Amino acid sequence: MTVYIETDRLNLRDWKEEDLLPFQQMNANPQVRRYFPDLLSYRKSEVDMKVMDEIIREHQMGLFAIELKETKEWLGFIGLNFVPAESKYPFKELPCYEIGWRLIPEVWGNGLATEGAEAVLTYAQEKGVQEVYAFTAEENSSSRKVMEKIGMKHYDDFEYPNLSKYHPLKRHVRYYKNLAF
Ligand SMILES: CC(C)(COP(=O)(O)OP(=O)(O)OC[C@H]1O[C@@H](n2cnc3c(N)ncnc32)[C@H](O)[C@@H]1OP(=O)(O)O)[C@@H](O)C(=O)NCCC(=O)NCCS
Repeated sequence: MTVYIETDRLNLRDWKEEDLLPFQQMNANPQVRRYFPDLLSYRKSEVDMKVMDEIIREHQMGLFAIELKETKEWLGFIGLNFVPAESKYPFKELPCYEIGWRLIPEVWGNGLATEGAEAVLTYAQEKGVQEVYAFTAEENSSSRKVMEKIGMKHYDDFEYPNLSKYHPLKRHVRYYKNLAF
């Protein structure tokens, strides 16, 4: 196991086999997926975890598993996702890096996402990443709050691809931070 980033309370590390079940449960939880169009099947989560781990091992960057330093309890993930030019998103600024987070509900509201995300931005800056975006559903206030607390600015709004124009999650917001300064 490799810890890539350490904060006061968190280790951001590569993924372990024991993370799989709590990751699957988190992704199948309607409370966690409230601002996503769907729940994830256990099979999809298994594939996603493998891919995230491979990317971290290859690039020392990606969506890191996070654990509480004190107890080593797995809490979710925080990190940077590389969005390729051929992605589904309707942006002209592609490829790009997207910062993202997803934590188990038991720990929400304690500043952990903000703490981990700030550390990811510092780590990314040290690695030469110059620009970072974040996307979420317009109504996802807690995620938008994290974006604002780490110094990101509301950049624009967009319609989430492959959803009906009447879907309640159609409206999305994009935030931006320049790390070059
Ligand atoms: C978004 C998420 C990662 C935040 O994690 P967290 O550890 O609770 O975040 P933090 O405690 O660092 O900050 C959350 C902030 O949002 C605020 N908040 C929470 N619910 C809110 C709401 N309904 N309206 C407005 N603000 C809200 C909190 O008060 C806190 O701000 P504060 O520190 O100024 O009080 C977590 O809620 C989550 O995993 N959600 C499900 C997955 C998800 O939506 N991911 C993002 C997709 S882009």
